[in-house]
Amino acid sequence: MRRDAPDSTVTLYESCAFERLLGDTLRPGGLELTARLAETAGIQTSMRVLDTACGKGTTSLFLAREYGCRVTGIDLSEQMISLAESKAAAEGLSGIAQFCHGDVENLPFQDESFDVVISECAFSLMPDKPKAATELRRVLKKSGKLAMTDIVLRGKVDDSLRSRLHMAYCMSGAVSAEEYTHLFSRAGFHSPYVEDHSEQLRKVAFQMGIAFGSMSGFMSQIPTGPCRCKTSAEPHPSAQQAYMQFVKQGRPGYMLMVLTRGE
Ligand SMILES: C[S@@+](CC[C@H](N)C(=O)[O-])C[C@H]1O[C@@H](n2cnc3c(N)ncnc32)[C@H](O)[C@@H]1O
Repeated sequence: MRRDAPDSTVTLYESCAFERLLGDTLRPGGLELTARLAETAGIQTSMRVLDTACGKGTTSLFLAREYGCRVTGIDLSEQMISLAESKAAAEGLSGIAQFCHGDVENLPFQDESFDVVISECAFSLMPDKPKAATELRRVLKKSGKLAMTDIVLRGKVDDSLRSRLHMAYCMSGAVSAEEYTHLFSRAGFHSPYVEDHSEQLRKVAFQMGIAFGSMSGFMSQIPTGPCRCKTSAEPHPSAQQAYMQFVKQGRPGYMLMVLTRGE
């Protein structure tokens, strides 16, 4: 299935409030964490890298610029893909950084095309995680690396509470580090390496307070609504309450995880 805009996930990350909160990298950690991820995954000039759910292409362009590797970025947002293409052209990087519109759960690439697949604050968003993990494995070369950063839960969340959340937020679909590991292990990955970067999420929470007054203040500025439905610009008090409860129960953190694709 290919999901075309308007889609709640896409609309959410295209919103100005996200840009105001996070700038060009639409997740915690910025390019400093991307540099750590690239180092851990052993990215080199000769490699082909896929940046899944690449947003505005900031990571793809950083990798192309700093490592000289060939990077392909893919995202569901046509608006962000077109912005990424313009930035690549302006920087003279179009020869090695290319972008396409598409869905991580149905990647338009041949088997074993990439040495490294990047997923920054994106895997948690996938509605069908086993399918997405299988796709990531399919496009990776044997012994290639899956390099991700994402929200991780350190507490148990009631299923009934999770079902009340808007699935477009990466937090809503986040699971524990053990669950991510099991999921990827079932899809054919091994040797997970994990680092805790939860201080990056705390920085975002702090920034949210400065820019919007509170988490509720931020949420009142972005489209919210039930899972995969058309979004509304109106704030949803019940969604905000559910989020506060979710944070309390789930104690979200942020992690870096690198895994190796099996034979
Ligand atoms: C939290 S943002 C992260 C963007 C980017 N990785 C970064 O670090 O700046 C999530 C991105 O995932 C994209 N996205 C969500 N679901 C997707 C899917 N199934 N396939 C491709 N992109 C998706 C959204 O459009 C959005 O750009």
